[in-house]
Amino acid sequence: RKGKTPEEVVKKYLQKVRSPPRRGPGVGSISRGESVGRLSACGHEYHLQCLVAMYNNGNKDGSLQCPTCKTIYGVKTGNQPPGKMEYHVIPHSLPGHPDCKTIRIIYNIPPGIQGPEHPNPGKPFTARGFPRHCYLPDSEKGRKVLRLLLVAWDRRLVFSVGTSSTTGESDTVIWNEVHHKTEFGSNLTGHGYPDPGHLDNVLEELRIQGIAEDESLQR
Ligand code: APR
Repeated sequence: RKGKTPEEVVKKYLQKVRSPPRRGPGVGSISRGESVGRLSACGHEYHLQCLVAMYNNGNKDGSLQCPTCKTIYGVKTGNQPPGKMEYHVIPHSLPGHPDCKTIRIIYNIPPGIQGPEHPNPGKPFTARGFPRHCYLPDSEKGRKVLRLLLVAWDRRLVFSVGTSSTTGESDTVIWNEVHHKTEFGSNLTGHGYPDPGHLDNVLEELRIQGIAEDESLQR
């Protein structure tokens, strides 16, 4: 993928269409003659230049996501800063999962300097509350979530750099769109157990990031 221009990347995911979609009132006036493409898997149509602009606003990793339905073309990656992800099994049960042990994931990300893929390139970012400990039941479904979280980590999708909604601090490492349980035996923060829907919720959040066990189910 490297070496392709943004337009080449976008075109790879498009089929040409004959009549361009109309632009909304007041939004530009010239639409005739502008190239329009249909995203090949989901069929949504956009002006080529709109998709190229969207691609250029992202982290230019060779992937594209349909703004309408979120279908991902290519492999989506994020801007998680460098760090470590480790996990092990601890011999205790989580509330709501009495029949199995527990997987503890430990994320460690040090503070650093923002890269070109971050909101303020060249500026430092902070990293609060690391190492962050997270818990999953050591069940079949819990282990599946773990496998997919390892993929999410490799694709830099578990954390991001931005403004923390909890503390309001900007230029700091924050959780991305995949929820983690950071409390073990209690649920004082709302990020603990029991939570019967948690694993299915995480599987859905991972799917939205383009990560699923059966890759054939992905578009
Ligand atoms: N544990 C797990 N998830 C959390 C927590 C938490 N303690 N706090 C927030 N989240 C979830 C939020 O529900 C939201 O979906 O993370 C997402 C982003 O929230 P932010 O507050 O922007 O993220 P961040 O600043 O990284 O989280 C703050 O999380 O692990 C702790 O030590 C960390 O106390 C800090 C808190």
